[in-house]
Amino acid sequence: MNSLDAPAELDIFDRWLVTIEARFSIQIDANRQGAFKSALTRFVESIGMDLESLDERRKSGRVDAETWSMLLHLATNHETRFFRSLPANERIVKLCEGITSPRILSVGCSSGEEPFSIASALLDAGHPTFRVHGTDVSSVCINTAREGLYPRHEGVGLLAAAPTRGNKMRFHRFVREMVTFEEHNILQDRPVQLANPNIVITQNMLIYYRTDTRYEILDRLSAMLVPGGHLITGPGETLNWSHPFMTRIPNSNPNVFQRSVDV
Ligand SMILES: C[S@@+](CC[C@H](N)C(=O)[O-])C[C@H]1O[C@@H](n2cnc3c(N)ncnc32)[C@H](O)[C@@H]1O
Repeated sequence: MNSLDAPAELDIFDRWLVTIEARFSIQIDANRQGAFKSALTRFVESIGMDLESLDERRKSGRVDAETWSMLLHLATNHETRFFRSLPANERIVKLCEGITSPRILSVGCSSGEEPFSIASALLDAGHPTFRVHGTDVSSVCINTAREGLYPRHEGVGLLAAAPTRGNKMRFHRFVREMVTFEEHNILQDRPVQLANPNIVITQNMLIYYRTDTRYEILDRLSAMLVPGGHLITGPGETLNWSHPFMTRIPNSNPNVFQRSVDV
């Protein structure tokens, strides 16, 4: 992680922006900075500090891992919902036809609704066994996802989850064993705990990154795929990205790219 100090002439909030962006290799979009400032200020007050005193603590290396996790969580947008993109889910089910035990990686999975939507759709399509692995930079989101407990959603059938008290549903244990989660920053070099996925999906995450960073992420995701595997992103998220061993499938919504079979 980069621990460069932000320029002293910036105001304290801007110094925190620079610090968090450098430490976690993320970019905080200009139109999210107001919301981040409010959330950051509320959080810092809730631990009896202000941005200046927390910065002093940071400079002497006394900010603990839990506080850093919360700062990162507050800096990123985690909006998600079950079956957010039906075309993407349908495409995944189609691509999994004929693969005995497909492996799907969902990058930037937030609190888990995307991986569990994919799992639910695969079960409904008759797939008894698969692996869906969700990764997110936010430990808060990953902890929520691992619980597998959500407000009930009509699209999630009884094959995948059971109703529980308080109008909630809990994904069955066997589903939670096939749908796994990992705190992971896709811009850092540690390998993801799912080797050779058949499909990598990332939606509504690339939009928070500048073009060059998006392209770097897309290169990394392509390199993870099994030969012949597919990369799926939301429409418009890949801009003019191209890659020597990835072929864009024309006219697809979502965006779909296929890795060459011979690399
Ligand atoms: C807006 S949510 C999208 C969730 C889900 N994919 C969907 O479409 O509903 C974006 C997620 O990407 C995560 N994220 C942002 N940068 C990341 C990175 N470098 N590595 C992994 N996850 C990241 C955020 O923490 C956030 O939970």
